[in-house]
Amino acid sequence: MLKLAVCVSGGGTNLQAVIDRIGSGEISDVSISVVISNNRNAYALQRAEKHGIEHVCICPKDYESRDAFNDAFLAKLDSYDVNLVVLAGFLVVIPESVIQAYRGRIINIHPSLIPSFCGKGYYGLKVHEAVLARGVKVTGATVHFVDEGTDTGPIILQRAVEVQEGDTPEILQRRVMEQAEWVLLPEAIRLIAAGKVSVTDGHVKIRK
Ligand code: GAR
Repeated sequence: MLKLAVCVSGGGTNLQAVIDRIGSGEISDVSISVVISNNRNAYALQRAEKHGIEHVCICPKDYESRDAFNDAFLAKLDSYDVNLVVLAGFLVVIPESVIQAYRGRIINIHPSLIPSFCGKGYYGLKVHEAVLARGVKVTGATVHFVDEGTDTGPIILQRAVEVQEGDTPEILQRRVMEQAEWVLLPEAIRLIAAGKVSVTDGHVKIRK
């Protein structure tokens, strides 16, 4: 059984996609041990509550220093004894101590085709605003392992999505979620749970 911690900050539609795929049996041998949010008001926490999933809030503002928060975050993760940490719209920089302790066991969903429109400052709607400002015709989403950089880890899955005339950032965000994110994130978890994902020299191989 692959035990997940899903880290969230907002609406939690990616969390919902994972919950739904586990519920429907499309993903087997996977359970969500805990949903962790840095934001008390994240709707994602209500989604967890509704599905009877353990959920906690750990907020940097409640700690006297960033180091104290980082220590508490690592201790929180450790206390749930999880095998995979899933960043599903988690807007907190993952501390180096956590990356070291969970190397190769943290994945992130990003709403663009990395290496485009990623890195510092590119999150949520800002990504789609930048896509529209540049006028690219194709965008998409990426699931990748997390390393010390911002959106630099080995790429697991990517899917392209068309940009259409008249798109607003909100319309494009929704299309990228529907056509790419909500498919890719559960699929990456399924592949990892099935033992089909390996990384060599920074490149991911997926066994058929
Ligand atoms: C998603 O679009 C996710 O890809 C993005 O935040 C949104 C969270 O939505 N993550 C990033 O931008 C990370 N750099 P959700 O809370 O509805 O899943």
